[in-house]
Amino acid sequence: MKGNDMMTADPAYTAKTYDLFGLSGISDETLRVHLGLYEGYVKAANDLREQLSELMQKGKVDHEHMPAYSELTRRLGFEFNGMVLHEYYFGNLRRGGGDQPPNGSAFGRAIERTFGTYEHWKADFCSVGMMRGVGWAICNVDPARGLISNHWVSLHEHGNIAGFLPILVMDVWEHAYLLDYQPSERKQYIDSFFSNIAWPVVEERIQAGLSSVALSR
Ligand SMILES: [Fe+2]
Repeated sequence: MKGNDMMTADPAYTAKTYDLFGLSGISDETLRVHLGLYEGYVKAANDLREQLSELMQKGKVDHEHMPAYSELTRRLGFEFNGMVLHEYYFGNLRRGGGDQPPNGSAFGRAIERTFGTYEHWKADFCSVGMMRGVGWAICNVDPARGLISNHWVSLHEHGNIAGFLPILVMDVWEHAYLLDYQPSERKQYIDSFFSNIAWPVVEERIQAGLSSVALSR
């Protein structure tokens, strides 16, 4: 099979839909604009894959096309993570969400193992979210050890931890809140984010991550 055949056999990505209107502190207009931006990442990821496929039409990259191939490939990290992280973000929001995970949850136990208390974990996660710059605050589970950790991801692609799985993802690009808050009011946006967290989704993610390692052993 030629390289081109392998790449064109992959189906294009399709933007997911989310029923999120009516959140607390995050307006429908913000969500409408934000979902449109997400759809742009899906399109860009598909366009990149198509362009790379064309450069591989002969089953290899011609020497003169290598600079273009290299640049497009480097952009994959930005566009793909832009797509996927938004899916995690919208996926962990819900109308009527809560501020804390339910008692007895796997996430709660992971917090106890790693941070001691929910308050300590939340303070750390929110501090990551308050970092200056453009990016994401992400709570990951390390499936191999059952521990969680909070990370800053610059743009979309710098700081993701290989093998760790995102279980709670918060967009802190200014487009996530600028229609509702001033640039200096990121803290209020983070408070609103916490009032809309879909904890059952967070729980599903951490349980899936932990069981994936258990099954592979
Ligand atoms: Fe965003």
